Amino acid sequence: KNRSADDLRSPICCILGHVDTGKTKLLDCIRRTNVQEGEAGGITQQIGATYFPMDNIRERTKELKADAKLRVPGLLVIDTPGHESFTNLRARGSSLCDIAILVIDIMHGLEPQTIESLNLLKSRQTPFVVALNKVDRLYGWKPSPGAPIRAALKQQSKDVVSEFDMRLSQIMTELKEQGMNSELYYRNKELRKYISIIPTSAISGEGIPDLLMLLVQLTQKLMEDKLMYMSEVQCTVLEVKVVEGLGTTIDVVLVNGVLHEGDQIVVCGMQGPIVTTVRALLTPHPMKELRVKGTYLHHKELKAAQGIKITAQGLEHAIAGTQLYVVGPDDELEDIKEEAMQD
Ligand code: GTP
Ligand code: MG
Ligand code: NA
Repeated sequence: KNRSADDLRSPICCILGHVDTGKTKLLDCIRRTNVQEGEAGGITQQIGATYFPMDNIRERTKELKADAKLRVPGLLVIDTPGHESFTNLRARGSSLCDIAILVIDIMHGLEPQTIESLNLLKSRQTPFVVALNKVDRLYGWKPSPGAPIRAALKQQSKDVVSEFDMRLSQIMTELKEQGMNSELYYRNKELRKYISIIPTSAISGEGIPDLLMLLVQLTQKLMEDKLMYMSEVQCTVLEVKVVEGLGTTIDVVLVNGVLHEGDQIVVCGMQGPIVTTVRALLTPHPMKELRVKGTYLHHKELKAAQGIKITAQGLEHAIAGTQLYVVGPDDELEDIKEEAMQD
């Protein structure tokens, strides 16, 4: 297979954490969107996907002056629900990702689904960072909208800094009890041994530049080999959805390889394997959420990593959570049908 360090695919980053810690709101802050306020009961109930082109990440991190090192084309971020009833979606989201953000509410510390998420990440040995969110709720916090966290902390009174230090050290102790050493990211000298903590606010945006910068640096530093582009298609079905004017569509995450309009594909169906042809490859605009209704961009082909809506005939009985296969010129259709049904 053709692989090279000059041809890295976009890393996939999954956001995990207890309900209402601010996962979707953090993404809204980065995207400048309002997805969270449109959710029923303010609760995420599906996996989401948003593509961030590197130009946008560069723009948001320019104050940190480290952009020379960014070599991946962008970042695909997967949002997951924190509500306890969606363990299967957290498992699916975390199984797709190269790196994760574990979001912890600084006012609450570790909660049941924080620990569940930690265990998922440990069992898959997925590298992750902690976003210690809602710092704006520290009593007396002075907002510095969108600022790097160290600059924001310098603006705070002694009392705010001491409450911050107290809560941070409590949470580091709780992480230690789960077998994890952690450290504020700018004091962390041992990226492979200590989990980096980035204090953030999804409301006023402090720490967001730091979070983006660290994600990109970590993926490049720790997993260059894993990100080298591979031509073999690896693709997971997230959702099966009827869309007005498009019929039944599937939302997928393309983890590796390329998909083309016209590709013959096989997906697992409730009544047996579904063999069909890609009619349209659609994505939302960059920095928009795949799971939110909007206008779509049409593509002749798409390269990993991407969140994609596929339209094709016969998708009515497709099953979410299974793999999508592309039938290549040398493939036996029957073999692929069998493989698809093993999911
Ligand atoms: P689920 O997906 O349902 O698990 O929740 P979530 O983790 O995505 O949290 P969500 O983005 O829905 O935010 C939950 C609530 O916390 C909302 O009312 C947000 O406005 C609020 N919130 C999120 N982040 C912050 C923050 O940094 N500061 C403050 N003050 N409130 C926040
Ligand atoms: Mg959410
Ligand atoms: Na929520």
